[in-house]
Amino acid sequence: MRIPFVIGNWKMNTTVAQATTLVRDMLAGLDRVKGVHKVLCPPFVSLSAVGDLLKGSSVMLGAQDMCAKTKGAYTGEISPLMLAELCQFVILGHSERRQYFGETDQIVNAKIISALKHGLRPIFCIGEKLEDHEAGMTEEVVARQLAEGLSAITGSTAIVIAYEPVWAIGTGKAASGEQAVATIGFIRDTLARLWTNEIACNLAILYGGSVTGDNIAEFVSYKEIDGALVGGASLRAEEFVHIAEQTAIIAKASH
Ligand code: PGA
Repeated sequence: MRIPFVIGNWKMNTTVAQATTLVRDMLAGLDRVKGVHKVLCPPFVSLSAVGDLLKGSSVMLGAQDMCAKTKGAYTGEISPLMLAELCQFVILGHSERRQYFGETDQIVNAKIISALKHGLRPIFCIGEKLEDHEAGMTEEVVARQLAEGLSAITGSTAIVIAYEPVWAIGTGKAASGEQAVATIGFIRDTLARLWTNEIACNLAILYGGSVTGDNIAEFVSYKEIDGALVGGASLRAEEFVHIAEQTAIIAKASH
């Protein structure tokens, strides 16, 4: 049985002071939620302070990106060795990295390989743009992102996949549960072909894109959807705790 995830991606929000306040506001509530992996992904500069606050709790820590290289003359980059000291997870291939920072499937692939090598669990984001969606190309796009992003990687359940249709991210226009489950089913089948059925069945595949306290139930009531990657709503302490609570209650009742 797969344990669902609720992951908060704070993106480029919160100063260190604001990040620590946000954690303090949500920690007790999140810690009480059982049967769900809870992960917070603050900006790099807050990883250490947030990590200190999470010590002794059931809430885990992740970064939002990583350089594939381990060290050297790469000004401004953050290495897996630095992250491995601080956190367990790292978001890779987020559509904002692909869109604004020119990350290709090959770059994402190198990062995933490097993260796994250094004991970090990649939260590998894939998803189609609006024009691909409207052209009926969703499956083709995610199949390519999977094949190239996971190239040369032996099947690993350390990887968490987040299906995030780009048109649903930060737009307030979430996919429907039905749309999400259809693509997530396709992703699981693709992983079974790429690796093995057993690995595909044991690997967590989440939905992301305008998830809120109001619509989380629509996604996690499908047993195929293993939780959510949450952006905007993860900056609101009470709502994020509610998302985790809903996920726990529904997963327990229906799966
Ligand atoms: P959103 O972002 O919840 O604000 O749409 C999701 C994400 O980008 O991970």
